[in-house]
Amino acid sequence: MMRLLPMEPPFLRDVVALEAEIAHSPWSAEMIQDESRLGAWLRVLVAGERTVAGYAVARPLFDEWHLLTLGVAPRFRRQGLGRQLMEALLVDAVAQGANDVVLEVRVSNVPARLLYQGVGFVTIGVRRGYYRHGPFGPEDALVMSRPTRLPESSGGSHKFFLA
Ligand SMILES: CC(C)(COP(=O)(O)OP(=O)(O)OC[C@H]1O[C@@H](n2cnc3c(N)ncnc32)[C@H](O)[C@@H]1OP(=O)(O)O)[C@@H](O)C(=O)NCCC(=O)NCCS
Repeated sequence: MMRLLPMEPPFLRDVVALEAEIAHSPWSAEMIQDESRLGAWLRVLVAGERTVAGYAVARPLFDEWHLLTLGVAPRFRRQGLGRQLMEALLVDAVAQGANDVVLEVRVSNVPARLLYQGVGFVTIGVRRGYYRHGPFGPEDALVMSRPTRLPESSGGSHKFFLA
């Protein structure tokens, strides 16, 4: 059984260990705690008693939310957990009045790009050399955005839509 829970302090150590294992520029416990103090949205997906299978951190910034980090443990991948975290983020962002969610992703990170596309994100820009350290040296980031409401012109200005 998989549970989506707030990232309470007891999960932090496992989140940071997983982040160190799978992220190119991993977030530290201090960085995550600082975000938490500033009102970040932090969630974990927990398998069984307390195995952290996935996590996500986002920063609400007025009406725009920024995805800061997201990860799924290798043995839990391709089971829809990444999508579940993104959908939970979108639902909460909408509930709290966000107009869109934005994120940066490495050009080479095809799994993440496909995940984001699948939940409605589109590329809105490129930041050249945004990632200073990568497997092939500095790497560009794609900036992706996902509006949470239909545009006025479509006649559905207040309708929330999920892909
Ligand atoms: C990116 C990541 C979070 C995806 O997590 P996941 O739980 O495996 O993703 P899901 O099972 O929810 O996949 C959702 C969709 O994303 C796409 N996708 C995910 N992994 C993919 C892969 N390896 N290859 C191709 N498409 C992939 C598919 O479209 C998939 O839908 P489908 O399974 O119906 O085809 C995971 O690979 C990860 O933790 N990577 C390392 C950390 C990272 O890159 N984080 C993002 C930083 S911006």
